[in-house]
Amino acid sequence: MPPAKALSLDDPRLRRALASRHVVCLTGAGISAESGIPTFRGAEGLWKRFRPEELANFEAFLANPELVWEWYRFRRDKIGAALPNAGHRALASWQGRSEGGFHLITQNVDGLHQRAGSTDVIELHGNIWNDRCLECGARRASTADDAAAVPRCACGGNMRPDVVWFGEWLPEAALAKSFVLARECEVFLSVGTSAVVQPAADLPLLAKRHGACLIEINPEPTPISGSADFNFFAPAGDVLPILLEAAA
Ligand code: OAD
Repeated sequence: MPPAKALSLDDPRLRRALASRHVVCLTGAGISAESGIPTFRGAEGLWKRFRPEELANFEAFLANPELVWEWYRFRRDKIGAALPNAGHRALASWQGRSEGGFHLITQNVDGLHQRAGSTDVIELHGNIWNDRCLECGARRASTADDAAAVPRCACGGNMRPDVVWFGEWLPEAALAKSFVLARECEVFLSVGTSAVVQPAADLPLLAKRHGACLIEINPEPTPISGSADFNFFAPAGDVLPILLEAAA
């Protein structure tokens, strides 16, 4: 594990950064790991056991919608049984007392930030609890007991999970807003993401280029670790409550 650049909250630069009024946080699968939801990469990652090309792209869905839905039902079951953890809760509290200056962007589709109390969450990769019709484009909220092998829309078309698959573009408004926020913030927190999937992985570096203080929280180093002003090589559920206290 690389040496931490700063683990001491006594560092005045860190204190100053945490007192900033414009904070943006980008989260990835790692923040939900402590809720028991597996990450995608790493030793125990989902992509070690499952093949993304069979489960998370549009051609795969057209070829075998039953299999893809089975995979999403499996994930919905896991997510539905999970609870937000201390990391999710700390971010919700941070936003709650920030008077509009704290923005949360997530690559996660699990909805745990919202269940912890975060609002206006920018979901770059969609939400696993929503379905979208392949024929008419209608969207609807789904539930864990949406049991049909391939759920159908009122128009008769096949529904798909309303998430972003490999090779698909991200929701335009969410992405545009994220880039603006990254350019304008004073502090950018990158939490629990391997920082390898674009375009989300660009956001921390964009913020840094525009003068933000970049803080990374991840037990493992990532491609952006060397660019961070402060690295916390530890679980988000341990670090975020401490940063929240220090930011008060
Ligand atoms: P990854 O699975 O790529 O990375 C998860 C990161 O979380 C890793 O760097 C871990 O070291 C870290 N991690 C693990 N436990 C942690 C903890 N307790 N606290 C903090 N960090 C922890 O997940 P993402 O970066 O979110 O896309 O992956 C990006 C995208 O790739 C996902 O949104 C998904 C996937 O394919 C789509 O489905 C479109």
